[in-house]
Amino acid sequence: MDPATLAEARRWGIDQLAETSPSAAIDTDCLLAAATGLEPVQLRAWPEASIEPAAWQRFRTTLRRRRDGEPVAYLLGRRGFMDFELAVTPSVLIPRPETEHLVEAALAQPADRVLELGTGSGCIAIALARAWPSARIDAVDRSSDALAVASRNAEALGAVSVRFLAGDWYAPVAGNRFGLIIANPPYIADDEPEPDRDDARFEPRGALRAGATGLEALEFIIAAAPRHLDPGGRIWLEHGYGQGAAVRGRLAEQGFTAIETRRDLAGHERVSGGILERPA
Ligand SMILES: C[S@@+](CC[C@H](N)C(=O)[O-])C[C@H]1O[C@@H](n2cnc3c(N)ncnc32)[C@H](O)[C@@H]1O
Repeated sequence: MDPATLAEARRWGIDQLAETSPSAAIDTDCLLAAATGLEPVQLRAWPEASIEPAAWQRFRTTLRRRRDGEPVAYLLGRRGFMDFELAVTPSVLIPRPETEHLVEAALAQPADRVLELGTGSGCIAIALARAWPSARIDAVDRSSDALAVASRNAEALGAVSVRFLAGDWYAPVAGNRFGLIIANPPYIADDEPEPDRDDARFEPRGALRAGATGLEALEFIIAAAPRHLDPGGRIWLEHGYGQGAAVRGRLAEQGFTAIETRRDLAGHERVSGGILERPA
């Protein structure tokens, strides 16, 4: 039987998600709000309001997909990052709160030429462009589907200074140098079990898996950084929580100094960076 009110629909949704989602009530509110065109707060303010049949059908369809594990961000087609909202599709990694630490680390030191490697939704490049409107920012990804999403996001958010380039890591910017290189590359080993986030099952494998050790992309990016940085240029990298020592070691091998690692909200080493006084 179809529910007559928002409160009944909400109760049904929470029951459906109770076993599969750790955030059943929040997910239900987001999906019910999207299906009805209301704000989540309005759902609670008007629990006795009736739900239109078309809205109920929309809600039931997305709720069932959520019950089967699809991330809310893909179902809604959007995700908040820093102080803005991005469109996301299954072609791009869903921006993580951990990556906000990466952006915050970089923002402490303005740069006028920036290279982001592996831009995905464009979240990092767009955040930097919004903070530094006069910076020239190149954002590379090998996925043309991801770049299409990133370009749309940049346009919608007025991040006009970002140039999106298709290709393998540094290939599209060969011969160029930057004041800042920033990346959240894939860093999960091929045979590592699925990350504890269920979302990863639905995200592009090429955005998550790096190779046999998980360090392959980070090592490549660090090894080639000295040929792409200006004197005194910086690098900031997101990495897995067990990879801090390895990343610091690779940075030191390439001549980086002032190497530091920052922790995420869970207390895990998550972001490392350094300065290169004398590039190659
Ligand atoms: C972990 S995701 C990061 C996406 C986004 N920057 C973020 O932080 O949410 C890694 C990105 O790197 C891209 N990528 C993987 N290998 C690449 C390569 N060899 N060259 C360029 N981009 C690559 C993937 O397509 C993916 O978009």
